[in-house]
Amino acid sequence: MKPILVSGVQPTGRLHIGNYLGALKNFVELQNSGKYQCYFFLADLHSLTEDFDPKEKTGQILELAADYLAAGLNPEKSVIFQQSQIPAHSELAWILSTITPIGELERMTQFKDKAKRQDGNINAGLLYYPILMAADILLYDAEGVPTGDDQDQHIELARTLARKFNARFGNTLKEPKNIHTAAPRIMDLRVPTKKMSKSDQGGCIFIDDSPEEIKEKIMGATTDSHTAVEYRNDRPGMSNLMQIYSSLTDKSPETIQKEFEGRGYAEFKENLAELISSYFADFRKKKRELKANSSKLKAVLLSGSEKAAEIANKKISEVKKKLGLSF
Ligand code: ADP
Ligand code: TRP
Repeated sequence: MKPILVSGVQPTGRLHIGNYLGALKNFVELQNSGKYQCYFFLADLHSLTEDFDPKEKTGQILELAADYLAAGLNPEKSVIFQQSQIPAHSELAWILSTITPIGELERMTQFKDKAKRQDGNINAGLLYYPILMAADILLYDAEGVPTGDDQDQHIELARTLARKFNARFGNTLKEPKNIHTAAPRIMDLRVPTKKMSKSDQGGCIFIDDSPEEIKEKIMGATTDSHTAVEYRNDRPGMSNLMQIYSSLTDKSPETIQKEFEGRGYAEFKENLAELISSYFADFRKKKRELKANSSKLKAVLLSGSEKAAEIANKKISEVKKKLGLSF
């Protein structure tokens, strides 16, 4: 049997180039390698922990499904599904919560950041979030979890919970490992010492931005007062742009440095803007077509959710037996 990979993204709006280079691009490459059995889902239950308008939620779910397919995820090769349609995710999360010390959750960086950001809505789900994420992973016996490095602490918790469960109730859950790309953390274009994030849209390039928007954002990206195109720790803005260039072309930063020797920041930025526009041209077109065909998107999610439910239901039954709940 092939090793299993599981990952998900929250349907909370458009994807930025950090989401793509840290996660989605890798989903597609791992899928196409043919070496893994892949489960990619829409983490819609997770997305309820952020402020949202229920009138927009269905649209956000379909938008993310369109992003997945337009980027190259293929329902013939991967199981693509919607988390909320599989009750076993919530059930296992509850069970795992009973072996999770609250202190482990309170020290999570993402919890602390989000609690600060939405201080009018520090709901219990925000704290409980990593337990649900552990359930998402452990239900499928995942060996690997491709994400950006901001999810490492959560994946570590999934490992801890699997070990703890197995030690107490007998071997049932598999310990997963994280899988990173060469760009596990793309930085904000305006404040390059901060991670690019949907919650601060001004510093994001969205992967369906128009060529004009891309150009404006890249030309306006914060860089320093030097002129040589160089990848250096003390030049975070330029290094971040070079990282993006490198990930989209598979060229090393040294090669890019040589290519742009003596040509200056402005010329590099113009080239990068064109590169991003052309790289995502096909994606933009496919996404437009998919968005116009919501019945196809719904059918993909429905059939993927049926497949995932079969696996998840087996695991939750096994867990309940181990706990002495079923006879
Ligand atoms: P955001 O932080 O923008 O809300 P999500 O939490 O929805 O993004 O993340 C979806 C996926 O994208 C996760 O695997 C996450 O690790 C990855 N990711 C998010 N931001 C970045 C970034 N700036 N660089 C690399 N990967 C990222
Ligand atoms: N927490 C992830 C994020 O913010 C989304 C997510 C939920 C996830 N469950 C997961 C990622 C399970 C990988 C595996 O992006």
